[in-house]
Amino acid sequence: MCGIAGYIGKNQASGFLLDALKRLEYRGYDSTGIAVLGKENTLNYVRSVGKINALEEKMKERQSDGCIGIAHTRWATHGYPSEANAHPHSDCNENIFVVHNGIIENYKILKKELIKNGHKFESDTDTEVIAHLIEEHFKNSLEETMLNVLKFIEGAYALAVISKDDPEKIVVAKKSSPLVICIGKNENFIASDSSAIAGYADKVIYLDDDELGVVTKDDYKIISITSNNKVQKNCCKMDLDVAKVQKGEYEHFLLKEIFEIPEVIKNSTRGRMIPDQGLVKLGGLEVLDQSKLRNINRIIIIACGTASFAGLVGEYMLEEYAGIPVEVELGSEFRYRKPIIDSKTAVIAVSQSGETADTLASLSEAKRKGALTLGIVNTVGSTIARETDAGVYNHAGPEISVASTKAFISQITVLALLTVYLGRIRDMSLVTGKRITEEIDELPCLIEKVLENDKQIRDLAKKYSKYKNLLFMGRKYNYPIAEEGALKLKEVAYHIHAEGYAGGEMKHGPIAMIDENFPSIFIVPSDSVYEKNWSNMEEVKARRGKIIAIATEGNEEIKDIADDVIYIPKTLEILTPILAAIPLHLFAAYMGIELGLDIDRPRNLAKSVTVE
Ligand code: G6P
Repeated sequence: MCGIAGYIGKNQASGFLLDALKRLEYRGYDSTGIAVLGKENTLNYVRSVGKINALEEKMKERQSDGCIGIAHTRWATHGYPSEANAHPHSDCNENIFVVHNGIIENYKILKKELIKNGHKFESDTDTEVIAHLIEEHFKNSLEETMLNVLKFIEGAYALAVISKDDPEKIVVAKKSSPLVICIGKNENFIASDSSAIAGYADKVIYLDDDELGVVTKDDYKIISITSNNKVQKNCCKMDLDVAKVQKGEYEHFLLKEIFEIPEVIKNSTRGRMIPDQGLVKLGGLEVLDQSKLRNINRIIIIACGTASFAGLVGEYMLEEYAGIPVEVELGSEFRYRKPIIDSKTAVIAVSQSGETADTLASLSEAKRKGALTLGIVNTVGSTIARETDAGVYNHAGPEISVASTKAFISQITVLALLTVYLGRIRDMSLVTGKRITEEIDELPCLIEKVLENDKQIRDLAKKYSKYKNLLFMGRKYNYPIAEEGALKLKEVAYHIHAEGYAGGEMKHGPIAMIDENFPSIFIVPSDSVYEKNWSNMEEVKARRGKIIAIATEGNEEIKDIADDVIYIPKTLEILTPILAAIPLHLFAAYMGIELGLDIDRPRNLAKSVTVE
């Protein structure tokens, strides 16, 4: 978590740095800070608790005209979110400033040694040891010192460092946390991800693990931390529309991103379907020897959070239509188990950011054990995208709101494409392939219709925001959506407690909680488990529980049992999760707004969980 940024060039650094921090705020937002090397080789820094506007206010009093600077937005791992713990951190003499995303695992031992040698520490963070280590070992140049010092460090880092003792540069380094360098004209930029730089320059270099970069105003060089040799790296063109990282007419990114979903589906499916042949083309998988894909006899989907619920929908789809056994594993669990994997196992990592530490570690373990590794990733050039043997990009565009919505819908859509792709190279019939792809093609229109319920959902949020608890239930394809609905509510309307359950499990516990003060949301499209869901609704009603139902248009009888109904258009059963999730995303967003919460940046959360 945490976001870092850096600037070196012809302009004042603080302008870009503040803008970048705002765009990186989704990575953490408990405190922020900035350090700028002034024209007379003075180093000014400002740190502040809370979000970027607090820092901005403070900076008005302490303007710095310097053209070299680094900045940080923090999600606390070590030490409270206080000003002392906010980055940048410095050495004893405030000659060296460091911003860091990651965790230095052996910081306690290093700190003890440094204290013994007379260093004075100001914070409780792991990061501060880096500044003192550089001070302790400074020799010749900042990069030479860092190449030396990084060898003592264990853990994960994306670092940017400036120093008065070697002032015309920013030195960066990467291991396990993401870092990009963006090349401009007489100016260069650094950030945790390219969305922070969109609109400033468009040539990016994605640093790989164990690489150090020396960035000056007009140049850069990359050096391997392990061999100390220069590394040749290619620049990629950044294909990111700056409007995509701004709120536009919306007050919240979360709502903007939900309303982008019809467009997202078009982008996720564009050029990938041939409906009249019932075929799907996934360029990212075509690079593989197709017999490898045909021979897969087991799939393990690895993901965390919302992405894991997309994975669960994928499990149901792939088993039913591609006939391949699938398991879904949480990254945080899988990485510490002894998973049974062989070369016929495909491990699919599903991740919006492509940086989630647990997903990444699980993927590496699967790779080591010989699995074919695939990715369904939204962020182009991210670590998971680069680590996998092959994969499919979501093309959902940058997702800024911490809680995932459009990326989640895109993940399910891509899993449906993958189902047809793998199904058709096995025994899925032309008719089934056609039926699914034709219906996927219809989704953007159907979703527009779902979004027309916006006002009704907003009113429902007003009505239900006074409750303290909510239970979400669904069966089969919509069981994961019940989980997702509850998670989304927990994330953005966290004063309300929510649980997601498989409808059939209700009698094994949750039913005990039901009474007139404990409403339930049932996802009950007219599908193969409709009758079963109906029985569960009866059981809730019999205990005076209130019901909101997500039901298929035209279902009038549902009004006999549900207190409120949100209709979704008719579609194939396997695609109902896509339509059903959207009202739940809107509901969570409006509940959060009703409760007066910051729905884009809920407390304690971060979008990119790059630590365990
Ligand atoms: C965090 C985010 C969630 C996201 C999860 C997995 O918890 O707040 O929105 O679903 O990480 O992230 P990934 O980038 O791997 O999809």
